[in-house]
Formats: sequence, structure tokens, C-alpha cells
Amino acid sequence: MIFLLLVISYLIYYYLKINYSNNNLRLITKNSNNSNSKNIKPNVILTDTTVTVKSNGVTKKLSRKCPNAGCMVDYDKKSNEFVCPCHQSKFNIDGKVIKDSAEDDLNIYYNIENMDNYNNYKSNNKKYMYRLGDMVKSKEYRDQNIGYKLHYNYFKNSIAVKYMQLTNKDNDYDTLLTIIKDYKLNYNYDKNTLIIHLRTGDVIDNSGYTVNELLDSYKKYLNTPFIYVKPYSYYEDKLIKIKKYNIKNIILITGFHKNHNYSKSFDYIDKIKQFFEKRGYNVSTRIDEDPDDDFVIMCKSKYYIPSGGGFSRIISKMVELNKGIII
Ligand code: FES
Repeated sequence: MIFLLLVISYLIYYYLKINYSNNNLRLITKNSNNSNSKNIKPNVILTDTTVTVKSNGVTKKLSRKCPNAGCMVDYDKKSNEFVCPCHQSKFNIDGKVIKDSAEDDLNIYYNIENMDNYNNYKSNNKKYMYRLGDMVKSKEYRDQNIGYKLHYNYFKNSIAVKYMQLTNKDNDYDTLLTIIKDYKLNYNYDKNTLIIHLRTGDVIDNSGYTVNELLDSYKKYLNTPFIYVKPYSYYEDKLIKIKKYNIKNIILITGFHKNHNYSKSFDYIDKIKQFFEKRGYNVSTRIDEDPDDDFVIMCKSKYYIPSGGGFSRIISKMVELNKGIII
């Protein structure tokens, strides 16, 4: 009996010890987080549709689009929060909703530690990348860790997640069309604008070719049979067709998945821009903006020129279903 009492006393002591030290640990972690967020003076860069927050070696890119009704949130430096001007929802610096009406957080496009060393997203699932094209085109991608799971966790309100919640088919264009029809886009532009998708990023910067070589003639990407980057001759052919329509304005749309040195891509974009400007068009660019907004703008375009690659092909299909003209 005495032995039993001793055992029970020891177990109670042991339980209290563990619990107490865990609580302390939780307290320490929580406090240190709080003190961090108070001391942090983040560098916040706003574009029309996104915000990049750099703080303590971590770079985050968030959508500015409020999940409540799609207004663009502003940054309030004093409180270090994002505030929606429409119905006053508030989000902390990490994009988490802290005051209604919004029920969801801001979408995160990436959240990357030591961004300069960021090479292989597959090797570290702390590094989040939005892959709309891959999620639409292949179940194999959707079933991977970088698929539905990651997208649901970090891009909850995105087109990719909506797509995966509505269908498990590859290239289910009817479903995609429904999603796009309901999408709230806060971007005004002349609907007679010609929209050109440019595939840039790794396919240019890692290609081994100079920008001039890529513009000179069609080049396959590394050891693949695929041609992603279009040369001048491709756009020269398109010019002949463009002349049939009353097109004055062009928007070049492109984005990068990662944050490498994209100097060659920027050079390429600039040269394509000059190519059309020299021929009398007003050319503007959307570079690395909200990828869902970009996708919808391209899919709903009246006139569209695709680039190489599967993502451009998905957009072409959507333009066709929306009765747009693929040039
Ligand atoms: S649109 Fe942001 S709170 Fe309503």
C-alpha cells in the first residue's frame, strides 16, 4: 500500500513538473514572439496589388487584396498593420486577420528565409510558391506536398485552391471558366488592350543564352525539347495580324516564382517593350504582380498573344472560351 502511494505521489510530482516547465516554455516562446513583433521595423514595399515585407532576414510577399470584398489594403506604419479602407478589416504584418469583416487572411505568395540562397523549393517546404498552372494541369502536382496541401495552407483564397476544391480533373477548363467569371478584379484598363504573356524567369536567366541570342531565334530550354521564350521574329509575325484590329495599347504580363537575380529577364522584357513602342504602341508592364489578377486579366483579354509553355496554353484555352482573339 505504502509502495502504491509512493508511486502515485511520484507520478503527480512528475506530471506537475512537466506541465509547469512546458507552460514556461510556451510562455517564453509566446513572449519572445510578441517582443519580436514589437521591435521589428519591417521594410514594407507596396505595389498596386501586392506588398513585400522584409524583416529579420525573412521576405514575405502578400496580396493586398482584402478577402472580404476585394479592396486593396493599406499599410499603417504607426500600428504596423494592414487596414482595409472599405470595411476596416485589419491584418497584422504577417497578413493574419485581426479585425473583421474579412474572415480570411491575406494570401501569401511567398515567405522565404534567406531569400538569396533560395534555390530549390522542393527541398524545403518552408518556402512557399504559388503554382496555378501546375495545379490545373496535373494531378501528379496536386497530390504532392507542394500541391493542394501547401496551397490550402498559404493561398487559401486563390484560384488554384478553388480549382482543386471543385475538381480533381486535369485541365478542367469549364470549372476554371466559372471561377474566373466570379473573380473580383480591381484593375482598370482599356478593354481593347492587347495582352501579351511573357514567359520569363528561369527559362531566360538559367538558359545559358544571352538575351540577344534568345531574341535572335527560337532556342530550346536546356536539355528539354521545349521553347518557352519567343524571339523577335515571333512578334514580327504577330504585328501583321495586330494591324487588322484597332489596337493602341499593349500590356506585357509576366511573373517570377522565386526571387533570384532576374536581370536577363528584365532586359528581355525591356527589349520586347521597346520593340512594340518603336512601332507606335503604348506599352505598359505588369511584372510579378498578383498572379491571380494577372491570370484573370489574360484569360479575359479581348486580344491575346501567348508565350511558350503550358501556362500560356491554359490561358489561350480560356481566352478562346471567353470569345477573345488569340493572335
Ligand atoms: S473589402 Fe476589405 S473589409 Fe470589406
